[in-house]
Amino acid sequence: MAVISAAIYTGLCSAETPGKILGASSCASSSCHGGGGALHNQFLVWSLRDFHSSRPSAMLATARASQIGGALNIGDVTADPRCTICHAPLLLAPQSLRGSLFQPGEGVSCESCHGPAEHWIRSHTRPDFTEADRVAAGMRDLENLYIRANVCVACHQNVSSDLINAGHPVLMFEMDGQCAAEPRHWTSEKNGNGAQAWLVGQAAALREMSWQWSNGGTPSDHESNRWTALVWLLKTAQPETDFKILADGNGADLGKKARSLQDQADELARHVAAQQWTPDATRRLLQRLAASSPDFRNSNTSTLQQADRAGRLVLALDRLVGSLPELKTRQPLQSALDQMFAEAQSIPDFNPVQFSTTLDQFRAALPWQNSP
Ligand code: HEC
Ligand code: HEC
Ligand code: HEC
Repeated sequence: MAVISAAIYTGLCSAETPGKILGASSCASSSCHGGGGALHNQFLVWSLRDFHSSRPSAMLATARASQIGGALNIGDVTADPRCTICHAPLLLAPQSLRGSLFQPGEGVSCESCHGPAEHWIRSHTRPDFTEADRVAAGMRDLENLYIRANVCVACHQNVSSDLINAGHPVLMFEMDGQCAAEPRHWTSEKNGNGAQAWLVGQAAALREMSWQWSNGGTPSDHESNRWTALVWLLKTAQPETDFKILADGNGADLGKKARSLQDQADELARHVAAQQWTPDATRRLLQRLAASSPDFRNSNTSTLQQADRAGRLVLALDRLVGSLPELKTRQPLQSALDQMFAEAQSIPDFNPVQFSTTLDQFRAALPWQNSP
């Protein structure tokens, strides 16, 4: 398996065809992606409404960023690769990959997600060009949820412990919610089922978290709890996986378990992305998660771990409920969900037994408790 990390995916490669980055203005003529109307307005949506066009690099100019930098002895956060790799990725493009209209200050730009355009800019509009031809020329197939997850997760999951200790916010990748939050500049939604995107994204997040610990290093208790909570969630969602909860791991043993989890999670992400997804698959997922209340009554699991599980679980239930139109108007379900949100936030007073009772109420409010 190819190891995927922020360093590899932040818009600078596709390793096989390192074409030049041509810059957003190359995409922006009015007959291409710089016009009005749903089919041609991508540049406008991105430059005026998408936070990726200016906010990531603007964040590095804030007092908060200098504070984080100060704690890490970084003189200039706006130029240090430890920050720019996600916040201003084009600054890291080598001279040889910069096209004539390239602007290093563009932020997270078209080609950060779609791939460097040199080899496909002319051909990608040819009527005889298939999707496969475009991909062969280095354009990323973002309609494929696995590929899309790899692009987003590179900047939205792992920040190293020293950055977190210096005050950087903890990141959590959740592809379905984050794709819905991004101002949409696309119309196609083939394969875009919320629940499927959610599951592929969670598997990719687990792969990245595991990768972080696969080559040594010891997670803090907090990091370890977050990791274990995600393993628990995916194992509950997909009981046929062989994920091992790794609370008891340490040292070399932990590295080995992490590598194995990394591979299994990658496999799951690919597998789910390739599936023909159906609403029934969403219902089954929701039911399995809704039936997990006994796990919250297990007194062998620490309360902090339970709280992390609960936090993950309510976010998951929220996305899955939201992706089934038949559930959107069911009041008792929504009330139970709201209550679970409130309870999951009550750290350090989290009460797992209380939470399990609310979870049972949620389950009882599903219209199909015993089937499908
Ligand atoms: C792996 C990618 C990544 C790296 C590396 C990274 N950041 Fe971030 N950073 C993010 C993302 C994503 C957010 C947005 C988090 C959110 O909105 O939940 C963010 C948010 C921030 C914020 C806003 C904090 C707040 O409370 O609003 C600041 C400031 C910041 N980063 C500074 C830095 C600095 C300084 C560095 C380098 C020392 C750095 N970042 C490295 C991805 C990264
Ligand atoms: C943060 C990542 C990201 C950035 C930045 C980005 N895109 Fe996209 N783009 C996507 C995703 C995800 C899709 C949906 C892919 C799909 O389902 O086909 C998409 C789809 C598209 C489509 C297909 C439209 C359709 O209706 O199917 C076009 C064209 C496009 N992007 C152009 C651009 C241009 C031009 C820019 C820069 C001005 C840009 N994108 C910036 C992620 C991004
Ligand atoms: C090169 C790094 C990079 C890539 C690739 C990237 N993002 Fe981001 N994204 C950022 C940074 C940095 C921020 C923080 C800026 C902010 O919040 O204003 C951010 C902010 C966001 C936000 C708003 C804050 C939040 O977390 O809710 C959403 C939503 C988002 N990105 C979704 C996506 C999606 C979906 C993809 C993939 C299609 C993607 N991003 C790809 C770097 C990236």
